[in-house]
Amino acid sequence: MSQLPTTSIAAIASYAEQSVTLAGWVYNKTEKGKLIFVQLRDGSGTIQCVVFKKNVSEAAFQAAQSLTQESSCRVTGGVRADSRAPGGFELDVQELEVVHLSQEYPISPKEHGTEFLMEHRHLWVRSSRQHALLRIRAEVIAAAQEWLNAQGFVRFDAPILTATAAEGTSNLFATDYFDLGKAYLAQTGQLYAEAGMMAFGKVYCFGPTFRAEKSKTRRHLTEFWMIEPEVAFATHDDNMVLQEQFVSAIVQRVLERRADDLKVLERDTTPLERVKPPFPRLSYDDAVKLINEKYQEVEGCAPITWGDDFGAPHETLIVQQYDRPVFVERFPAAVKAFYMEPDPNRPEVALCADLLAPEGYGEIIGGSQRIHDATLLEQRIREHGLNAEDYQWYLDLRRYGTVPHSGFGMGIERAVAWITNTRHIRETVPFPRMLYRIYP
Ligand code: 4AD
Ligand code: MG
Repeated sequence: MSQLPTTSIAAIASYAEQSVTLAGWVYNKTEKGKLIFVQLRDGSGTIQCVVFKKNVSEAAFQAAQSLTQESSCRVTGGVRADSRAPGGFELDVQELEVVHLSQEYPISPKEHGTEFLMEHRHLWVRSSRQHALLRIRAEVIAAAQEWLNAQGFVRFDAPILTATAAEGTSNLFATDYFDLGKAYLAQTGQLYAEAGMMAFGKVYCFGPTFRAEKSKTRRHLTEFWMIEPEVAFATHDDNMVLQEQFVSAIVQRVLERRADDLKVLERDTTPLERVKPPFPRLSYDDAVKLINEKYQEVEGCAPITWGDDFGAPHETLIVQQYDRPVFVERFPAAVKAFYMEPDPNRPEVALCADLLAPEGYGEIIGGSQRIHDATLLEQRIREHGLNAEDYQWYLDLRRYGTVPHSGFGMGIERAVAWITNTRHIRETVPFPRMLYRIYP
């Protein structure tokens, strides 16, 4: 006989006045004499199961009494509409069977410190806030891929073990690779996506990426997931148009499909509803002027000189001027990656943009037009102190039918932190990897 339940809590509405079997875990339990109320969760939702002594066998009543928080059980009962119930329904229990009586659960509804919760991350993911967050993460990932697929993009996976650096050499995780020397965990899939772009026109890669950054900020992980579209013949301007459409589509889909989860997170959705193209565009030059005029308005914000990269307070100041995500474009080439196309009118700046999210979440996308000339690219590789021999395959892409092309990378965790208004990025991934955390 199957052990599967007959339905999920999410689908309970279509079983009103019928008998169903649910299987799940005890979220909470209260007893009032001959009545036991079990909050059952099954991953799809929660429902109150009412165990009334005179409706069940003695064994089932005792089983219900024995239930501890997070015990697993199987429950059969009648689905009854109740306007006071959070999901609109309750279950009048007829049968109840314990699958496993949980030991005393370390996470109780009382407040725990973040360190304690992080140590118990494998259990913490069952809690309602974490559950809502991770569901939204899953929605963002699905929305991103499905939107690109519908636009004719082909998913083209990039390797994780690579021989070269792409985003600077100071933050590489290295490992010994048999007789072939060092291998590095990919900082980005982009260079490989560019090979795919030359084969398919429009591609994206999606996977974990790694940065051995010793930054202990609320925006940095050492392992994060990035989705990276790459488009042949696309210019820097085309790239920004694609990004604003992409981000808007993802946000609108989360608003439509994950409204309940946003509610659990108490997310004010008004700022999200405004996320529609076009997004404002601000040049790096104007951003520097803005910062130097208004730096006193943001705590910890200092004036900067042309050529400096922005810190978090600078980004906060910039986004405060707008009501939706904002592009900062044309950064000094010197602070950006080697592969970025220089502005033909001002070679000291790159045809690139960072997309900054509102509400202080900072950069969620980095993107650029890529250098498509082999000679210039090789020169840049050398200027960045990289070994041109290692990049011959990448240079080949410029030797055989090269085309102007552009692409970008969106960090999933940064995007989810912004959409869910979660201050620290560590809660937006099931098992965060950070400078001081590799357990669990
Ligand atoms: O700006 P980045 O470094 O750009 C690239 O890697 C390009 N190769 C992307 C491309 O053009 N295909 O990183 C892109 C995004 C950032 O905007 C941010 O969202 C995320 O990746 N990111 C991080 N997220 C969490 N922790 C970190 N340490 C991150 N570093 C980058
Ligand atoms: Mg960047």
